[in-house]
Amino acid sequence: MSSDEPTLDTLLDRNRGWADSMTQSDPEFFSRLAQQQAPRYLWIGCSDSRVPANQILGLMPGEIFVHRNVANVVVHSDLNCLSVIHFALEVLNIRHIIVCGHYGCGGVRAALHDSKLGLIDNWLRHVQDVRNRNRAELSELKDDHARLVRLCELNVLSQAINVAETTLMQDAWGRGQQVSVHSLIYGLDNGILHNLGPSFDKPEDVLRRKGELGW
Ligand code: CO
Repeated sequence: MSSDEPTLDTLLDRNRGWADSMTQSDPEFFSRLAQQQAPRYLWIGCSDSRVPANQILGLMPGEIFVHRNVANVVVHSDLNCLSVIHFALEVLNIRHIIVCGHYGCGGVRAALHDSKLGLIDNWLRHVQDVRNRNRAELSELKDDHARLVRLCELNVLSQAINVAETTLMQDAWGRGQQVSVHSLIYGLDNGILHNLGPSFDKPEDVLRRKGELGW
């Protein structure tokens, strides 16, 4: 435990200060939010503490629906993630799903190097699937740093495809709902988000991307 670690009381004090300042600048802020949420975006990102969705997008409470897990993985049997996507699509009527990874991801690094960390190795198997599917491309890169950079990107592209291939997204597109899936990656060292390619607006976009990637 570091000496500058705030105590729980300190955190609660900070919360009061934050709530007071929010109310001062907009007296109706909390009463309005308490009525309903109407976020425009669903964010699926890494649990990494350095990648907070609201702050890096400059969004307020109520403006983005968020799901985070280690290495921003989307698995078709993960009831947690599927439930978030379902709620976002069918209740909140969200139009944009952002899958966001980040460079220097510890989960991706562990997967790349076959690190033995315990239980989480099972979760990171999904990232190893991405690595294994792209062994040829990764092996041509000059060093481990370059391979980690590329695997962080390939993981985002792969998980965005997984989102698009859920029955939830396929059904949404099938009934004419306008939803786009975006693939972004965040630089821990400069705070900048990069778009990794064209968004998916329909099933054909996903097939084209898979063809381009040779998957
Ligand atoms: Co990460």
